[in-house]
Amino acid sequence: MRFGVLTGGGDCPGLNPAIRAVVLRAAKFGHETTGFLDGWKGVRDDLARPLAPVDVDGILNKGGTILGSSRTNPFTKEAETAKVLEHLAGRGIDALIAIGGDDTLGAARELHRRGGRVVGVPKTMDNDVSGTDWTFGFHSATAVAVDALERLRDTAGSHHRAIVLEVMGRHAGWVALATGLAGGADVTLLPEEPYDEAALLRHVRAAAAARGYAVVVASEGIDLGPRRGSAGGKDEFGHELLREREVGAELARRIESATGIETRSAQIGHIQRGGSPELFDRILATRLGAMAVDLALAGRFGEVAVLRGPSVVGIPLDEALGHPKTVTPDWLDLIHTFDA
Ligand code: F6P
Repeated sequence: MRFGVLTGGGDCPGLNPAIRAVVLRAAKFGHETTGFLDGWKGVRDDLARPLAPVDVDGILNKGGTILGSSRTNPFTKEAETAKVLEHLAGRGIDALIAIGGDDTLGAARELHRRGGRVVGVPKTMDNDVSGTDWTFGFHSATAVAVDALERLRDTAGSHHRAIVLEVMGRHAGWVALATGLAGGADVTLLPEEPYDEAALLRHVRAAAAARGYAVVVASEGIDLGPRRGSAGGKDEFGHELLREREVGAELARRIESATGIETRSAQIGHIQRGGSPELFDRILATRLGAMAVDLALAGRFGEVAVLRGPSVVGIPLDEALGHPKTVTPDWLDLIHTFDA
C-alpha cells in the first residue's frame, strides 16, 4: 500500500511525533508514505514529498510540523474537490491519514463521503474534538500558559496589580480551565459561561484585599458584547480570528476603571502553539499515528483513531465530529471552588 499523510489546521506540539509514527508503522509492514505539504492545500495543488524512515529521524521532540499546515478547505468548491481526488489517484495513494482538528477532520469526512480512503488523527491545543478523551497539543500548550501565569503572578505581586492572562481555545475553554486550575487563578473566565462582570470585579477586589494582587485567566472566546476594536477577520472555515478581539486588554481596562486597581494584560497567543511536545503529547501522538495506520490496513476507512480511557481505538468520523467538546458542568463547579 502507499500511504499519504497531511497535517491541517493550527499547528500544535505532537504533529511531528504523529507523522513519524505513521511513517514508521507503515514501513514496519513494508508500505511507503508520501507527505502532502500544507494540509489539504498540498493535496489540492499536488504538493508532496516522499517520507522515508530517514526523513522522520530526529523529529520526535520538534514543535510545529515538518509537512507544514494551512486552513485550506478544498471541499467547498467542486473543482477543487475533483483535483483532490485526481491527485490522490495520480500518486497511487491507497490510504490517506489526515491529522487535524474539527475542520481538517471535517474535510476528511467529505473525502470519505466521496469514496476516498481516509483515516483521521485528532490534534488540537484546544482539546475540543469529541470522541477522544484528550487531543495531543493540549498538554504542551497549556503548560506554556501555566508558566506564563506564574511569571505574571510574580509581577502582579511585586507591583500590587491585577493582571489578566488571555489564552487561546476558540469556543472551548479547556486551555483557560486547566491554566486557571494548575496556575491558581483568582478568577477563570470561560466561553461556556455567560460573562458576569459583577462577579469578576468581586473576585478581583477580594484577592487584592487579601494579598495585594489578583491574577485572572480569560479564554479568548468569552463574549464581552459589542465594543470597539472587534476586527472580525475570518479564516477559510469561517471562524472569527478571536485574537483580534483582545478580550484580555478589554478586561484589564474594565477592571482598572471599576476598581481603581492598576491592571495589565498579556495575550500569549501563538507562543502556546510552538515548542517541543511534552511527554504526554509525544506518546499520545505516537499511539494515534500508529493506530491510524492499523485502521487503514484493516480497511476501516472513514474512522478516526481516538483515546478512550487507557486504549486507542477507531470510531467513525461522524461520531468524533458531531459537536465540539466543551467544558462540562463538573469542571465548572470545580474551578469556581478556587475563585477568590
Ligand atoms: O484552533 C487552534 C487555535 O490555536 C485556536 O485556539 C485559535 O483561536 C486559533 O487556532 C488561531 O488561529 P490562527 O493560527 O489561524 O491565528
